[in-house]
Amino acid sequence: MDKQQARERIRQLSEELSDHNYRYYQLADPVISDYEFDRLMNELGALEKEFPEFLSPNSPTQRVGGWVTREFVSVAHQYPMLSLDNTYSEGELRDFDNRVSKLLNEPYEYVCELKIDGVSISLIYRNGELAQAITRGDGVRGDDVTMNVKTIHSVPLKLAPGDYPANFEVRGEIFMPLSGFRRMNSQREEEGEQQFANPRNATAGTLKTQDSAEVARRPLDIFVYYLLGDEPVGNTHFERLNLLRKWGFKVSDIKAKCKSIDEVFQFINDIGANRSQLNFDIDGVVLKVNSISQQEKLGFTSKSPRWAIAYKFKAEEARTRLLSIDYQVGRTGAVTPVANLEPVFLSGSTVKRATLHNADVMAALDIRVGDEVLIEKGGDIIPKITQVDYSVRKPGTSPEGFITHCPECGTALKRNEGEAAWYCPNETGCPPQIKGKLLHFIARKAMNIESLGEGRIEVLYDNGLVKDAADLYDLTYDKLFGLEKVIAGEDGKEKRISFREKTVQNILAAIENSKSVPFERVLFALGIRFVGETVAKKLARHYRSIERLAAATQEELVTVDEIGEKIAGSILGFFAESGNRKMIERLKAMGVQFEMSGEKVSESNLLGGKNFVVSGVFSSYSRDELKAAIEANGGKVTGSVSSKTDFVVAGDNMGPEKRRKAEELGIRIISEDEFTAMIS
Ligand code: IVH
Repeated sequence: MDKQQARERIRQLSEELSDHNYRYYQLADPVISDYEFDRLMNELGALEKEFPEFLSPNSPTQRVGGWVTREFVSVAHQYPMLSLDNTYSEGELRDFDNRVSKLLNEPYEYVCELKIDGVSISLIYRNGELAQAITRGDGVRGDDVTMNVKTIHSVPLKLAPGDYPANFEVRGEIFMPLSGFRRMNSQREEEGEQQFANPRNATAGTLKTQDSAEVARRPLDIFVYYLLGDEPVGNTHFERLNLLRKWGFKVSDIKAKCKSIDEVFQFINDIGANRSQLNFDIDGVVLKVNSISQQEKLGFTSKSPRWAIAYKFKAEEARTRLLSIDYQVGRTGAVTPVANLEPVFLSGSTVKRATLHNADVMAALDIRVGDEVLIEKGGDIIPKITQVDYSVRKPGTSPEGFITHCPECGTALKRNEGEAAWYCPNETGCPPQIKGKLLHFIARKAMNIESLGEGRIEVLYDNGLVKDAADLYDLTYDKLFGLEKVIAGEDGKEKRISFREKTVQNILAAIENSKSVPFERVLFALGIRFVGETVAKKLARHYRSIERLAAATQEELVTVDEIGEKIAGSILGFFAESGNRKMIERLKAMGVQFEMSGEKVSESNLLGGKNFVVSGVFSSYSRDELKAAIEANGGKVTGSVSSKTDFVVAGDNMGPEKRRKAEELGIRIISEDEFTAMIS
């Protein structure tokens, strides 16, 4: 391939992959398999390696946290992972039952289970221990995601002694409970991260994450529903489910033995009626012939077992009309189009608004004001528009172009290549961004000045009293007392926001108290994009003061646990803004904590100019404390062992690759005690 062709192919692949990315994350409607996606991504990666001059920093291969380029090992399934035949119709379910009845020609029963809407997984156990967890992949080969699956508490890693075979395989569904999904998404929103469209996407995305520590923080769970192996165990599927439970696996309680197809329909109707009570998404009911010998008699087609079928629920849908489109600006400046709909009743509530996600989604739907649309409520919290009925569109309408300027401050919108969202870049002058940042600052987990709250921040902003967090500390009793605003509440009733004596005293006391909020929470409160609670903690413990953090380079930042290039870039960008630096100076002058209190690591130049690599787990330091101690004594920490490395500080479970490399290069490997001696 010559240069010209390579450039063209790279451009084409980048566009295609960005499109698939947004279909996956935003529309929750991928049109290609994970396997195909990875193939394209690998092709792009290989070309960029060969022609580095065409590698753009915004290439899909450079996206962290999006669809990560995967380096999971692909492995063959011992037994192919087939799918299930499925139907939405009662008639077809009866047809299935008639076929079973004819083929068996003897009495039989079914087991009905929930069809969990998650990601299927194959768990391989050897001698009672989890040996491997493999995704479905293309059914024949899947990805080894053992490290990630091991973080899920409901997956047993080691079974208690029992009557299970030496080798067996369990299939199940990994999913994210709705409560956890909502919590995680609102946290992501707070941290300026892209939200997942639904729990299934969140689960799939999480299992593909390279960083198992991050996976461990995501609320994943599992139900298992299928036991395989060469040794026969139990005579019925139901018995096998009970055995699985006895061995320590999580099996859903919601299941039933049914003697006839009418009993199956009863189960389906019961589930359908109570579906909204479940704390996880299901997309139907699976029925399986119970007897294993009858299952064997029925066998498999090339694609699916003849002894099972999935009855899928139709998503609840409603038809309504698009009245207008609003554009909302969030704390990070991202502009989200929101559809105002003619109110319509759907799955228990009246829907008036639906998200349109972003400009690409709007363009893909070619949606226009006045259109009749179909809306759906899935596991998603916000209803979405799934279809436009073009057949009844009135003539003379034109496509709804995305706005070009911020609806709040008039600034021209920007879009980063490869990202779906348009942004208002006017961070310091755009009202919802300013108010959003203030709200984040006062949140309970940040500075805990919650006596202020959204309505009151609005009043302060309207009266020109606050424009950034530092202004909060200039507030006085006289400035606040007597402020008032009447607003229309959610319910249409008037709501009066007033600053009476007691309120003002509470607010001022909370602001005063916030001066003792520890540095790590102050850092979180600053609202640096991608710096959530956990990252703020890591940074605070590592750098111990805002000055040291502000002086850190990209190379230094990425050596801190869990800090990747994306977060590092965002931190550098934050401190590059003079407005941010000024605000911090003012906050500091007011007495807000910008350094870690408590025992401070000793400072010296004993390690001056020496390069360190840290690996493993330590008993008297956390990894970050150890790194901070090295830096405080003049040493430098790097991520990988090279000929420039002077010392490797080795803890328990040191990475074998690092040890091998260090030994090969003859680099000194020291224990943490030896290290402590060096700086004492
Ligand atoms: S049994 C050979 N049971 O649905 C039979 N599958 O559409 C293996 N699923 O790939 C599957 N809940 O990921 C079975 N109770 C359940 C299930 C279930 C969800 C998923 C599974 C499968 C897909 C087939």
